[in-house]
Amino acid sequence: MMILEGDPIEAAEALIAEGKAREAADALRARLAAGRGGLLARLTLIKALLAAGDTSGALAEAREAVALNPDAAVAVLALGEVLLAVDALPSAIAEFQRALRLDSNLVGARERIATAWLKAGEADMALENLKDLENPPADMIAAAQAIKAAQRCDPGYVRHLFDQFSADYDRSMIGQLAYAAPQILFDLAAMVMPGGLGASAKPIASAYGRATIKKGLAILDLGCGTGLAGAVFKPLAARLDGVDLSPAMIEKARARGIYENLQVADLETALSAPGAHYDLILAADTLVYLGDLKMVFQGAHARLEPDGYFIFTVEKAEGEGFELGPKRRWRHSEAYLRALAGQAGFHVAGLLAAAPRHEAKRPVEGFAVALLR
Ligand SMILES: C[S@@+](CC[C@H](N)C(=O)[O-])C[C@H]1O[C@@H](n2cnc3c(N)ncnc32)[C@H](O)[C@@H]1O
Repeated sequence: MMILEGDPIEAAEALIAEGKAREAADALRARLAAGRGGLLARLTLIKALLAAGDTSGALAEAREAVALNPDAAVAVLALGEVLLAVDALPSAIAEFQRALRLDSNLVGARERIATAWLKAGEADMALENLKDLENPPADMIAAAQAIKAAQRCDPGYVRHLFDQFSADYDRSMIGQLAYAAPQILFDLAAMVMPGGLGASAKPIASAYGRATIKKGLAILDLGCGTGLAGAVFKPLAARLDGVDLSPAMIEKARARGIYENLQVADLETALSAPGAHYDLILAADTLVYLGDLKMVFQGAHARLEPDGYFIFTVEKAEGEGFELGPKRRWRHSEAYLRALAGQAGFHVAGLLAAAPRHEAKRPVEGFAVALLR
């Protein structure tokens, strides 16, 4: 065990700076266990554990620091830091606010609140907190403005939204929101995908009767969520992969045991990377989190086999382009979808009016679209 020579806090800080955070943490733990060290030693221990990537250890120590020093704003700030590091954003913000109530001049607390809001993709809330700082960091202001200007939902916003929603997702989608996108897409696939695609073609029951679609397909599920659409398409799949921004949704999908490969990633990034090719790419109620679909169409085209299909739902906009709706979901017009499909090299194999879900007990107008490469 390393001994911290001289000033133990300075020695531990030096170890952390040298990349020896684990040694610093062990030495500080030993001192605290021997009753030699107070709040400052524990705060440095939390920093060392975070630097060593031991977030659960850091969380336990931060909770201990607050339990031992409930009125110390710096201890509460440290707890907020750890919660921020593990993306527990509402709890982190609550702790930073508590720290500010304990000490309204606490250095760094308001900036950390703004950081948490930025991570959650909430640009206005971040700017609201930054405006009270004497010297607001220019990079944070620029990041907030970039979120506001982007023609898509911020990845942090989507991740946070669905991490929160994941536990209750299936029940509320199927129950309250009458979610129908997976079956709508399946029925569209049954209509447009040729029946005579080889000996593996088998009849599949659908709302349009018994359609015949080729089985044994390589399928990619974009924004796979908990796997509601994947489960509907699984009978057609030789290989089913999924990508989603939300780790909590991906865990639910993994628990279904129907996907070969699941990836936590932004679908625009995942599609533009080199990788497997697919016969069918799905996006059930996913593209509503993107406004400009150019990258998605290009990426899907690049990752499809010749004669592969890209099948997805969107919500409907009037006119020529796309727009952001009041619930922070994007809507796309038929004219926009058709023009972009042509530019990306797709043939529009099917474009139907559809209601993928309900909102306030009323059907939301949308389209189910099948593009053929
Ligand atoms: C409404 S859910 C639909 C989930 C699933 N397709 C289904 O049918 O139940 C939308 C999903 O898309 C994911 N998502 C949204 N934008 C995304 C993006 N840019 N990259 C990856 N996943 C995204 C969300 O995290 C969420 O799980």
